[in-house]
Amino acid sequence: MLKLILSAIIFILPAYIANSTPVIAGKLLGKYNAPISKKILGKGKTWGGLIFGLLAGTLAGYFLNALYLGFLLSLGALLGDIIGSFIKRRFGLKRGTAVPLLDQYDFLIIALAFASYIKTPTLIQLIIILILTPLLHISTNFIAFTLKLKKEWW
Ligand code: CTP
Ligand code: MG
Repeated sequence: MLKLILSAIIFILPAYIANSTPVIAGKLLGKYNAPISKKILGKGKTWGGLIFGLLAGTLAGYFLNALYLGFLLSLGALLGDIIGSFIKRRFGLKRGTAVPLLDQYDFLIIALAFASYIKTPTLIQLIIILILTPLLHISTNFIAFTLKLKKEWW
């Protein structure tokens, strides 16, 4: 079972890295960073986050001997996150508003969709990923909040 859980985490790891790097990149880049479109996506989706997220996730794929898979997972994760924000803004929700499920699954669904072009997880791996992702998402966000990297604890 532990081996199975690990294999699921390794499969999806580039997406996790691509999704969490922007929080740190956004903080480090400061004024050198710029929102992709304040109006359409809000201030929380930046070019720096997108570029460094893509680089970090793809690099993770390289170290996992799955460069192309890592790239697809990362690109999907970042676009999924952007789509999530797009939907939130269209409903008039301010940046940082919590939308349960959308916040935890937007990046994951698109990451898996992109990855499926070359590889899909097994059913049991998929179930593990679907259970673990919201738990990890909430706990890493809480850590980022306590480290003052993020304004909201969710
Ligand atoms: N981030 C970024 N660029 C991206 C994605 C994320 O700079 N492409 C950074 C931003 O600093 C953002 C943080 O990562 O605030 C956390 O991302 P997320 O929780 O998805 O954004 P929110 O600020 O909550 O905004 P939204 O309501 O649009 O989800
Ligand atoms: Mg958010």
